[in-house]
Amino acid sequence: MATGRTPTNIAVIKYWGKRDEALILPVNDSISVTLDPDHLSATTTVAVSPSFPSDRMWLNGKEISLSGGRFQSCLREIRRRAREFEDEKKGIKIKKEDWEKLHVHIASYNNFPTAAGLASSAAGLACLVFTLGKLMNVKEDYGELSSIARQGSGSACRSIYGGFVKWCMGKKDDGSDSIAVQLADETHWNDLVIIIAVVSSKQKETSSTSGMRDSVETSPLLQYRAQTVVPSRVLKMEEAIKNQDFESFAKLTCADSNQFHAVCLDTTPPIFYMNDTSHRIISLVEKWNHSEGTPQVAYTFDAGPNAVLIARNRKTAALLLQKLLYCFPPQDRDLSSYLVGDKSILGDAGLHSIEDVDALPAPPEMKIPDQKFKGDVSYFICSRLGAGPKVVADENQALIDSVTGLPK
Ligand code: DP6
Repeated sequence: MATGRTPTNIAVIKYWGKRDEALILPVNDSISVTLDPDHLSATTTVAVSPSFPSDRMWLNGKEISLSGGRFQSCLREIRRRAREFEDEKKGIKIKKEDWEKLHVHIASYNNFPTAAGLASSAAGLACLVFTLGKLMNVKEDYGELSSIARQGSGSACRSIYGGFVKWCMGKKDDGSDSIAVQLADETHWNDLVIIIAVVSSKQKETSSTSGMRDSVETSPLLQYRAQTVVPSRVLKMEEAIKNQDFESFAKLTCADSNQFHAVCLDTTPPIFYMNDTSHRIISLVEKWNHSEGTPQVAYTFDAGPNAVLIARNRKTAALLLQKLLYCFPPQDRDLSSYLVGDKSILGDAGLHSIEDVDALPAPPEMKIPDQKFKGDVSYFICSRLGAGPKVVADENQALIDSVTGLPK
């Protein structure tokens, strides 16, 4: 058995559009930040036994089918690279050629709600590939692992590293050069604080996969974005990250998120991922950034209404939280479950109880000063940049029972 834990990531230069659907090859490079796995990650245990008649997988305790092409690609590519494994103490020896015949059981769980639309597939698929690689003693080549994870879900290839990550689109038809590379690790720029607003939504969203297919087929803006805008933006973003230049970083991040959503609107039929709450958050941040004369916070939105807000430091993150909690107070008045992750930010913002939230002054950025939108945000997550995948060595934390071979 092997257990691994893999973080999720959020793109600051978005991937939107494939040039090859089967191999998952993108139409442009993308750049992401990896989030702290303590707050947002997938944990996966993979077990192998000659007594397993087939490959099986359980996600958050429920069995799911592995018959999909993407799972099959990941399993096939990892098995191809499997090497001999020996544990003399346990008396286990698996020869290279045995891996083709042996079946695996996979149990995976996310430490955040899958339904919240927070790139759970990125963390999950990257974790599957990383952990299978450990079990099958695959050579540690992170570029190659990223190209296998890519075939599970495009954005998963960026979860193979911590810190700041670039997915290079590559040029080759076989996809061998479409891999992720680390631009800088999580310690490079550790002032940044990330606050995620999980926005309440009843709407069933268009999946990224089908949304981007429609955009590629119908949006003229997507062609212009991929060929002209993103190549220069990626260079500027790499510079901004290298120099810890928050002003450029924030401007590029916001502009790229907005252009991605503009491409969605430019798609036929148009795709709406953001909602009124998302728009209110954008306008709050835009007005604040404008009044300060230089950006304090960057915002970015994926294929859903949740806002990912990146503050330049803890002080700005605390101020941001005050503004957000004024506009979006908790519905059931329970502050401790309304902000999860790094709860210490509440203390920094002077918010020790719900009465402190009630006493907050109206942010000057609001259109109508005393307007509040209780219930429009489900909860907030406070996080930071984090490290890449790790092996969980403690066997007690494995998700599969070593006797039954089934999820615990
Ligand atoms: C908006 O990686 O979920 O989050 O490759 O079809 O599985 P597939 O799509 P997916 O798309 C993510 C799109 C995005 C932007 C990004 O993460 O870069």
